[in-house]
Amino acid sequence: MIKVKDLKFKYQGANQYALDNVSVTIPRGSYVAILGHNGSGKSTFSKLISGLYKPTSGEIYIDGIMIKKNSLRDIRKKIGIIFQNPDNQFIGSTVEDDLAFGLENANVDREKMKKIIQDLAAKVDMENFLDREPNSLSGGQKQRVAIASVLALNPEIIIFDEATSMLDPKGKEDVLKIIKDIQKTREKTLISITHDMDEAIMADYCIVFSKGKIIAFDESKNILNNSKIIEESKIDSPFIYKISSKIDGIKPTYDIEELLENIWK
Ligand SMILES: Nc1ncnc2c1ncn2[C@@H]1O[C@H](COP(=O)(O)OP(=O)(O)OP(=O)(O)O)[C@@H](O)[C@H]1O
Ligand SMILES: [Mg+2]
Repeated sequence: MIKVKDLKFKYQGANQYALDNVSVTIPRGSYVAILGHNGSGKSTFSKLISGLYKPTSGEIYIDGIMIKKNSLRDIRKKIGIIFQNPDNQFIGSTVEDDLAFGLENANVDREKMKKIIQDLAAKVDMENFLDREPNSLSGGQKQRVAIASVLALNPEIIIFDEATSMLDPKGKEDVLKIIKDIQKTREKTLISITHDMDEAIMADYCIVFSKGKIIAFDESKNILNNSKIIEESKIDSPFIYKISSKIDGIKPTYDIEELLENIWK
């Protein structure tokens, strides 16, 4: 469980809070989409809960343990984050080294490690790039390696910060499939920052940020059916919702089955 209490954060030299009194509890094993306009504080929030930034004030608890200097090392092991920009996310000199890094730290034996690396690389469609230098890859390929490297560490909480924004439609679909696979077991908490409302509708909950504050937190279908929130936070609505709200005499819905039933009535 992630519990955030009265969190405030101001960047050095800034005159406004990037996060202003944010409180939220994210249940363990849930899949949460974080929505909000550009600059609303989504990435800042994800860096704070990963322990990469220190709160200006307020508290963050991961599984009941407050993030502070002496708990930071243990908490960082629980959280994997894949950033918006795949550059500077690599430690190894080859893709294989990069994937091996976390496994070596966890003392996985050599033979097992080879198999795990092969499987992870195949999962993100990068098995033919294992001996390449990460920085010589395209943006989308880098992003796939970054995802595999985080999966290799097997963290309890995985944060995707617009991880699909560099990917082509096939790449996006692959990553969404990985997210769905992870979610199936319900063993990990998944947080996905996204502008893609067709992804957001897959999540259990949506958190909506606006100007450094959380303005809504509810089940995804409630958020994405709420035109007031959609308007206020300048987020988009899902494709099915957009279509259904354009058809005369049909109640707008996010649910394709409901739309079809209403059309055929
Ligand atoms: N390194 C920084 N130094 C100073 N201000 C920053 C820094 N990073 C972000 N900010 C500011 O903090 C606020 C929140 O930024 P943040 O990156 O969290 O937004 P975001 O919701 O992730 O936006 P986007 O959808 O564009 O990724 C913005 O006003 C931004 O200008
Ligand atoms: Mg961001």
